[in-house]
Amino acid sequence: MATVLSPQEVSQHNTKDDLWVIIHGKVYDLTNFLPEHPGGQRIILKYAGQDATDAFDPIHPRDIIDRYLSPDVCKGEIDAGALAKVEKVETEAEKRVRLARESMPRLDEMYNAFDFESVAKTVLKPDAWAYYSSAADDEISMRENHNAFHRIWLRPRVMVDVKNIDMSTFMLGTQVSMPLYITGTALGKLGHPEGELVLTRSAAETNIIQMIPTLASCSFDEVVDAALATQTQWLQLYVNSDREITKAFVQHAEKRGIKGLFVTVDAPQLGRREKDMRVKYSDDAPGEMEKKEVSRDEGAARYISTFIDPSLSWKDLSWLKSITNMPIILKGVQTPEDAVLAYQNKCQGIVLSNHGGRQLDFAPSGIEILPEVMDALRRQGLNGKDFEVYVDGGIRRGSDIFKALALGATGVGIGRPALFAMSTYGQAGVTRLIQLFQDELLMCMRLMGAPTVKHITREMVDIRNLKDHFVANPVDHLSHGAYERMVPRGMLSKL
Ligand code: LAC
Repeated sequence: MATVLSPQEVSQHNTKDDLWVIIHGKVYDLTNFLPEHPGGQRIILKYAGQDATDAFDPIHPRDIIDRYLSPDVCKGEIDAGALAKVEKVETEAEKRVRLARESMPRLDEMYNAFDFESVAKTVLKPDAWAYYSSAADDEISMRENHNAFHRIWLRPRVMVDVKNIDMSTFMLGTQVSMPLYITGTALGKLGHPEGELVLTRSAAETNIIQMIPTLASCSFDEVVDAALATQTQWLQLYVNSDREITKAFVQHAEKRGIKGLFVTVDAPQLGRREKDMRVKYSDDAPGEMEKKEVSRDEGAARYISTFIDPSLSWKDLSWLKSITNMPIILKGVQTPEDAVLAYQNKCQGIVLSNHGGRQLDFAPSGIEILPEVMDALRRQGLNGKDFEVYVDGGIRRGSDIFKALALGATGVGIGRPALFAMSTYGQAGVTRLIQLFQDELLMCMRLMGAPTVKHITREMVDIRNLKDHFVANPVDHLSHGAYERMVPRGMLSKL
């Protein structure tokens, strides 16, 4: 019989030299583990002597403690009845979130992808908003991702029979309802208690593909189990420094029926996302427990990414191919040169992406480089059958999808929009978001005189300004907020 401990007893162990926490009904002594915690000490200290399940869940696989720590760190089970009676003190941040959730607009008042984002901004917990919304450095590439679409104009054709519009298409052999997939994004439970499963269910409802992230909050098998038997899923892969772990994961994924392996190639190390770093730094750990030198580059991104292998190179492709028969697609290609290398190395496709602007600030948007990438690939003999080009980053409108297709993409991925819809309205939200994209794309195809995806051609877009960044100069919010206005000496007293 396991020892049953009361919450009062656990709460006594609340110092850094004697530190217990409750996670999923079990009580753990983390005193010795504290200095080694990859996510830093502050977050554990914050929950010393208390139930840490809600903070633990989004960023850890459920069995991680049993796998990595010795069994004697488990002190017993918590008395669940008594724990339920412990009154929770609502923090200011929790109160703000609760009130914001109570006054959310109705789902049918959401008319586009931006609407979900503006609601998400008010209802997400600070750490979730920081992690999802943040991007690298000054976030210029992130804003550029959508801005770039503003530099592509349309050339509508008229007097075409557009009574029936069919936006279905094929992606890596799977027929889908529209040329859009949900891309892999980490830590779904930061935004919704059921995490990635919400996306799985909406993808099923709308007949689009979900890419499962390596760094999902749910386990890989949970996400596959939540899918319909007929549903296609892809896997986004971060290659582990321990290649045996990656081999086992990839082979397991193939056995479970995954239809595409999207290897992330733009993240040998995760970028600097200052919002994410700051929210961890300012987390309100009790003052007296604070360690003197707190590392300032903590944050969810650093925490979860220590295993990624920065030595991954073109040489590893033959190894990847030797361990799987799944199509291999490189996610995060940012130049025509690398697109050509992927093609020559017999990958089955690429995703032109700068990782939602989260990696290298001033990396170009996928849509900007799409025309030159397609030109380079065609010079290599690309015939459109054996190699597919996808784009993600900045897709917020049906017309964005249209523009990407006109320039040669097979389809596009959405990341943050799906997370924001999931975090606000759950499955119904994600489904509505996808339906809004469908409505917008349908309207765009009809007004453009393109009744099917095959009718969407390069002549339908005007890209003369695409490379000219001066057309829509992104606002550098950070510097605008930080700099003071210069005031001439004589005017100081008048202000
Ligand atoms: C990120 C990783 C985990 O961008 O993909 O945060």
